[in-house]
Amino acid sequence: MTELIVEKLVKRYGAVAAVNDVSFTVGDGELVTLLGPSGCGKSTTLAAIAGLDVPTSGSIRVDKSVFFDSTSGISLPAESRNCGLVFQSYALWPHLSVEQNVAFPLKLRRVPKAEQRRRVGEVLELVEMNALAGRFPHELSGGQQQRVALARAIVYRPAVLLLDEPLSNLDAKLRERARVWLGEIHHQIRQTTLYVTHDQLEALALSDRIAVMNGGKIAQLATPREIYEAPADLFVADFIGTSSFFKGVLTKATQLGEVAEVRLSGGELLRVLTHKSIAADQNVVIAVRPENIQILTSPAHRPDQDGTVLAARITGRSYLGAHYQYELMVEGVAVKVEASDDYAGNDLKVWIPASGCVVFPARVVQSSA
Ligand SMILES: Nc1ncnc2c1ncn2[C@@H]1O[C@H](COP(=O)(O)OP(=O)(O)OP(=O)(O)O)[C@@H](O)[C@H]1O
Ligand SMILES: [Mg+2]
Repeated sequence: MTELIVEKLVKRYGAVAAVNDVSFTVGDGELVTLLGPSGCGKSTTLAAIAGLDVPTSGSIRVDKSVFFDSTSGISLPAESRNCGLVFQSYALWPHLSVEQNVAFPLKLRRVPKAEQRRRVGEVLELVEMNALAGRFPHELSGGQQQRVALARAIVYRPAVLLLDEPLSNLDAKLRERARVWLGEIHHQIRQTTLYVTHDQLEALALSDRIAVMNGGKIAQLATPREIYEAPADLFVADFIGTSSFFKGVLTKATQLGEVAEVRLSGGELLRVLTHKSIAADQNVVIAVRPENIQILTSPAHRPDQDGTVLAARITGRSYLGAHYQYELMVEGVAVKVEASDDYAGNDLKVWIPASGCVVFPARVVQSSA
């Protein structure tokens, strides 16, 4: 059992709170990702757990071992925390071979030579770098260096693995391959892992759960699917995937799970399935994913589900080989929709299922009235 528990973590730099009351748990064998835009506090959180930086307040524990606790004044030095670290820059020892790099943490811990050889062989096999064990870092590609860095981080079986943007030095293709490979390794070793990235695809593909961070706080902590399908707020809806945002007013109070109607600014009614209780006459924003906007092939055609038909105007179209991409104006909102047909003319109808609409109370806008 290895569980990482972070409670009420705060890190201030002067007046600025880089991490502002962050609490989360990474369960035994779980991979949790901190995802968010640049400067939201991801690396600061990771550095506090690794012991590279001293937080302002809060507590960090791994099982019963207290890494940091501001109330009792405990702050364990980094080397006593048993965390495996991989950073954006792999920082391999340039004068050591792959094998020697990976053996280094074992040497530090005075593991017997024979056991060192066995464990290095084992992890190099895991990251498929056995054949290149004798090479030096400058003789390796970025992806290969990254594998060695990971091997070096897991070889001494740390309690927790902390990865800060480990793939960001790789080009797009290699990055995609490394992502799949990292997922497979995690599946095999089931190490309690905290992963940091600003790449949402990486987060969606790799994580058991994702903590979306914004301005030093966690905006939502949930499974990739929940984050994508039921974003907790407008920030998450906007940050993860693509959404089009419609504005309107709720015609009557709604309860969770009810289909309600929103009067859009243009006057049309949009049927929406609400994820929370919202008062009547409240200004709302409705986020709709492009895959939930369907072009109707004939005006009579209408899917057998609760939803809304709206008029749309084609403002742009591109042929992309397997399908077309249409730029549409729907109720004054620009949306991009993919479809397999080449539609004649510029006016058509789209259909939006109520279940594809996520409703949020609109942000309060200061009015001069
Ligand atoms: N030593 C420091 N002194 C002052 N401010 C700092 C310091 N380190 C970080 N910050 C600030 O704290 C905030 C969070 O930084 P952090 O490095 O955690 O961001 P991040 O989420 O990892 O971003 P990125 O995706 O760019 O790596 C930023 O606004 C940053 O400018
Ligand atoms: Mg960072």
